[in-house]
Amino acid sequence: MRKYCNDFSIDDINKVVKLYGWVSNIRILKCLIFIILKDSTGYIQILVKKNNNKLWNLSLSLSIESCIGIKGIIKKKYIKGNKNNKDIEIVLSSIKIFNYSKSLPLDMFSCNSNLVKYKYRYLDLRKPEILNIFKNKSDIKFFIHKFFNKFGFLDIETPFLSKSFPEGANDYIVQSRIYSNKFYSLPQSPQIFKQLLMISGINKYYQIVKCFRDEDLRIDRQSEFTQIDIELSFFNFNDIRFFVEKLICDLWLNFKKINISLNFPLLDYNDSIDLYGTDKPDLRNSLKFNKNISIFLKKGILSEFKLCFIKSIIIDNYFGDLNLNFLFDYLKKKNVYCYLCIRIISKINGIYNYKFNGKYFCDNDWVLNFLKKFDIKSNSLILIFILKKEYSEKDIIDIRNFLSDYFNFKRKSGFFPVWIVNFPMFFIDKNKNISTHHHPFTKPFNENDLYKSNYLDIISSSYDLVINGYEIGSGSKRINNFNIQKKVFDILNISKSIQIKKYGFFLEALKYGTPPHLGIALGLDRIVMLLNNILDIKSVIAFPKTSSGICLLTEAPD
Ligand code: AMO
Repeated sequence: MRKYCNDFSIDDINKVVKLYGWVSNIRILKCLIFIILKDSTGYIQILVKKNNNKLWNLSLSLSIESCIGIKGIIKKKYIKGNKNNKDIEIVLSSIKIFNYSKSLPLDMFSCNSNLVKYKYRYLDLRKPEILNIFKNKSDIKFFIHKFFNKFGFLDIETPFLSKSFPEGANDYIVQSRIYSNKFYSLPQSPQIFKQLLMISGINKYYQIVKCFRDEDLRIDRQSEFTQIDIELSFFNFNDIRFFVEKLICDLWLNFKKINISLNFPLLDYNDSIDLYGTDKPDLRNSLKFNKNISIFLKKGILSEFKLCFIKSIIIDNYFGDLNLNFLFDYLKKKNVYCYLCIRIISKINGIYNYKFNGKYFCDNDWVLNFLKKFDIKSNSLILIFILKKEYSEKDIIDIRNFLSDYFNFKRKSGFFPVWIVNFPMFFIDKNKNISTHHHPFTKPFNENDLYKSNYLDIISSSYDLVINGYEIGSGSKRINNFNIQKKVFDILNISKSIQIKKYGFFLEALKYGTPPHLGIALGLDRIVMLLNNILDIKSVIAFPKTSSGICLLTEAPD
């Protein structure tokens, strides 16, 4: 069996070995040369003695990252130290130089800019610690295949060259050679095909599959990414919850030796927004916005700010002053245009003694009136802030993290999964069009609600899995009835002709005894990020795109 750099220990002393790899480092010390050889498993030291002229000269000719094969005998280390911290080294007896390397465009021992790193990604990947991420990803994929196979799921491929079924992004388009004015779309997910497989009678489907979305890239978003796609018929949410939670718990136990308990908590979408300001809450951060105050402010006195984002927190036992300039400067930078800090100095027989400060929207009477509505303890600080309409979700997440650090809220370490449930079915998008929160195949909680007028109040049967602020998965029960599916398309203002042209085959399929079914897709790359404590999705993709959608290596698109 082929052996690698990391396969040897002190027990192998005096064994003759052959190894292949790249020169990671060379040191010359009087009549000795130390070559650090590396391969995909790690490093080992090769010792060259001056008594063999040919070996000496060949070794001297090596450049860093030259590709070589060596033969030698394992010995106890002659001189201790260096990168390879094993107690052994290989005393060289022959060497074959496959290819010299020209001088390197990047530093193999420290961080490089993304520009250099991804232009020469094949060299970056040669670092054993980087390659380890991909070994880990490969092991994770194998583990997932075994998991689903054990539970009787079928791994079925779905087409990449298909029609456009948008899921919130633009499509990548491929021109047909045969029909020069026609195009395929690359799938944003296998959504429609996995539902068709349910109609075909496949009871449990899964696939580890590439998806393609032309959208703004972020630290956890790539235009090509991989989903663990799952669909089940004749099952319910608790079943899918079990499979997904079991998979997550097994992955964390196997790859991180961390025990996560089954029965992840459920959090209502509205509560998530009220308490954390986002539907992707990072539960490591214990800071919660005050739900009652926010609701009161939105409904009541501040109705003119109805469309703005209003949040508030209460800090108990605050003895600091009200000149929170550092905090105020930060809020100003984060799309916050009003903020009010009220410090309750004392409260005796319901009478507040207080001070307030900020860039506010109110006067003393307003504050008095506001305080009367709430039972706030002495020595509390109340912070209310209103964000401009153009705030981003990131503003809220950043503000919550900032406030948590500023006021010393507890930050836990570990992994905190949570299911977000009861999403609204529809919302009004930036272009003032009605749109679905998930995709248009999601079943409303109560189908009759589709025939009432206020669509924005309809709750959908969908669920997201969030871990530490990352959306790890998203899914729903599906519409399995022709009329309901058509009604949703109607509400979305998809014209009859487009319904027929685009989704006609699917509407037709729904007429042939469609089973009740539901599913979810988990983001594999995001799972690998979390399991490797990595913050940037590019690091877990061998050849990623930059945030402006460019492959620095190949210079695609061209
Ligand atoms: P959704 O669009 O929410 O749902 O995607 C499911 C999960 O895939 C991951 N994900 C991404 N990861 C990296 N880069 C991206 N651009 C990206 N987009 C999504 C996330 C996300 O939770 N068809 C539905 C699923 C279903 O209903 O079964 C879908 O694709 O982790």
